[in-house]
Amino acid sequence: MKSSASAPGKIILLGEHFVIYGARAILCAIDRRVSISAETIPQRTITIESEIGKLSIKHDIEPTELDSPLRPLYHLAREITKKYNHKGGIAIKVKSDIPAGVGLGSSSACCVAGAAAISALFEEPDRQSILRLAVEAEKTIHQNTSGADCAVCTHGGVIEFKSDKFTKMDIVPDFKIAIVNSEIEHSTGDIVSHVKQFKKNNKRQFSEMLNKEDKLVNDALLLIKKNDLAGLGRIMTENQLLLDMLGISNQTLKMIIRIANEISFGAKITGAGGGGCIIALNNHTKIGKIIDHFHKEGIECFSTEIDFRGVNTF
Ligand code: PMV
Repeated sequence: MKSSASAPGKIILLGEHFVIYGARAILCAIDRRVSISAETIPQRTITIESEIGKLSIKHDIEPTELDSPLRPLYHLAREITKKYNHKGGIAIKVKSDIPAGVGLGSSSACCVAGAAAISALFEEPDRQSILRLAVEAEKTIHQNTSGADCAVCTHGGVIEFKSDKFTKMDIVPDFKIAIVNSEIEHSTGDIVSHVKQFKKNNKRQFSEMLNKEDKLVNDALLLIKKNDLAGLGRIMTENQLLLDMLGISNQTLKMIIRIANEISFGAKITGAGGGGCIIALNNHTKIGKIIDHFHKEGIECFSTEIDFRGVNTF
């Protein structure tokens, strides 16, 4: 038996980090995908081949004993094998056009496409069960995940997420997002731990910041519906000030954001920070200018479309 699935990456328009503590976030799926193929094999092993590494191990190893970025896929193969009482093994191949470790959801897209492809070996999975499996798999590398990334990679489009619950927005926004890649890889788990420590040391301040973030997201939802890009850009800039206060920015990110702010409606970190990508809000006429500017500086910058398909099996 063989099956395949693919899932999109994502950007976080507003609300990263604060979403873990109950504030709302807005996320968009993007037009870069991870594709995964899975095949049942007679040997009782799980093999994984991907650009970030290779793995071939027996099922009896606990995922926690595995020091590999492929741990979530191994966890998925092991759990699904157990669930369907499959006596053999599974061979998995991963192909990705999402840059890894820079906040564009490569790991979540992998968990979602992996959950879909491996489950489809045994029965046609629905999106709800794919999402549940994907979030459990993501927890094997980043225990405190909000689940927001996996939700948007599963369902596609634009989602509003709050404490495990999300709504897919019924809109096709008329904006263009430029993604600027600092090419500094980050560990989401480490940066999430840093923010946890900040919260512990600054309880009152953090609680005020959390309320402010939730209000920003509320305002942004109205502005998105009105397609008020100037207003939305201002909100993104205000969100970035809160992320700066958390201490998750650095000189390179600040430099990129300062330049992007001069050319676009607003710019901010997307994802955990500490490196990774910046998003800048543009309209159809501004987008070319920002891309040209960063290309001349030798910094990777590309335009992204929103993906409305989410996960699909084939
Ligand atoms: O892994 P990243 O860089 O896409 O960031 C995930 C977003 C966080 O809010 C920082 C973590 C989470 O689980 O929501």
